[in-house]
Amino acid sequence: MNDYEPEGWPGVLLREGKTLLRVPNTVNQENLGPHSKKRSSVFYNPAMSGSRTRSVILLNYAINSGFFGEGVVYALDGLAATGLRARRWMNELPSSSARRLQIEIVDSNPESLLWAKKINEEIPPKNGIDNLTYTVGDLRKVVLNSGRHWIDIDPFGSPVSFIDSAIQSMARTGVLEISATDSAALTGSSKSPLMRRYGAKVKTDGLAQDSGLRVLLANVARIAAKYDRKIEPLMSIWDSHHLRISIKVIKSIEAANKVEDNLGWRVFCPDNVEIGSSKSQELNLPKNGILPMNCFLPLDFPVNSNDKRISGPLWTGPIGNREVMSYFSPEEALSLCGPEFDENDPMNRNQKDIQHERNIIEKSIKNIMNESRAIDCNHHIIVDDLASWLKIGSPPSPKKMVEMLENLGYRAAVTHYGRPSFRTNATWELIVECAMHFQPPI
Ligand SMILES: C[S@@+](CC[C@H](N)C(=O)[O-])C[C@H]1O[C@@H](n2cnc3c(N)ncnc32)[C@H](O)[C@@H]1O
Repeated sequence: MNDYEPEGWPGVLLREGKTLLRVPNTVNQENLGPHSKKRSSVFYNPAMSGSRTRSVILLNYAINSGFFGEGVVYALDGLAATGLRARRWMNELPSSSARRLQIEIVDSNPESLLWAKKINEEIPPKNGIDNLTYTVGDLRKVVLNSGRHWIDIDPFGSPVSFIDSAIQSMARTGVLEISATDSAALTGSSKSPLMRRYGAKVKTDGLAQDSGLRVLLANVARIAAKYDRKIEPLMSIWDSHHLRISIKVIKSIEAANKVEDNLGWRVFCPDNVEIGSSKSQELNLPKNGILPMNCFLPLDFPVNSNDKRISGPLWTGPIGNREVMSYFSPEEALSLCGPEFDENDPMNRNQKDIQHERNIIEKSIKNIMNESRAIDCNHHIIVDDLASWLKIGSPPSPKKMVEMLENLGYRAAVTHYGRPSFRTNATWELIVECAMHFQPPI
């Protein structure tokens, strides 16, 4: 790359987390300043700031908990646009973690990388560590140039075309973070692309986003198995317009052979035979005979492909890791990523503005730490659906349900999810009893 000044420089100065960035003022976003008719080809989406914040926290956890041993951590910000994600890793991680990183920023748009490089020259990481390199090219080729511990895939639309080569290039233990904005496909609204890209079906009910995350996980697990690797989900998030999975990828032929143990189907309104075949230990039926709303079936269960109740094939194992998610506390998030008030703030923000920025950081991790307590539990209950299913008036509060189930000795937690819901390992019988308990007498 040469030292050419990108078109539109210096553009608009912004801050995300603790990191300052510049984007062209013609970038396709609102509230970024005066727009000309010509839209910039450089991409920046503030709505994805939560995903970048979680990425900083997860990377810090992975480095500190020894995922990658003691040496250099080779990271790739694969579809980097302005390189903001990589710049946030470098700038917001404590020096002890940042020092171990060697980050390659890749984008096929040379103009994007000019912006990435120029802003990093103007405002380098505060810790003085700047191990960033810039590569213009197609990620599907560039990724194969060397082994990586950490790969971020954040495409426009579907990630499917990037996953295969990314998995091939991973070190023996690595972390892969994948965004998917083809949410209409993954959540079952656009059936043809869902079948074409992911070979799956998803019922468009309250659990559609959860099923979409699981379809993506199943897809990646299958690809990983082809290359003698297993996956362990660390965190799976539905965030308004996109889905994001973070997984550990580990070389192990033995585990890859067992990939189908974690794959299967989700069936809505299961019958007694299906309930009997479910892997779940938590489906004891209440005496009044009310069957559960849904359950998982193993992959070898003979499902009818025209059955509208079925979603899958999808990942039926846990979609997150208890220890990893418990690290996402507000204190940790704010300490790593929360800006502090400074009288010489280059953005001229007052105390109230800074508090607003800190609130955004806290919001991006809301409930993740709490949900860690029950992330491996089979029941994910959307309370609106529960109320309709049981034909009771108003939906019970997820918080109250969780309190009651925990008091009864079960694990339960409110979710980080688009609809009010909770996860629990309580029996279905008990869930029904608790929900009935909260109904006012008629
Ligand atoms: C959604 S944006 C990435 C946003 C960025 N990760 C962030 O956090 O701001 C997708 C980027 O991928 C780039 N891109 C698209 N196809 C590519 C390919 N095959 N190889 C490398 N970059 C590609 C685009 O130029 C665009 O900048």
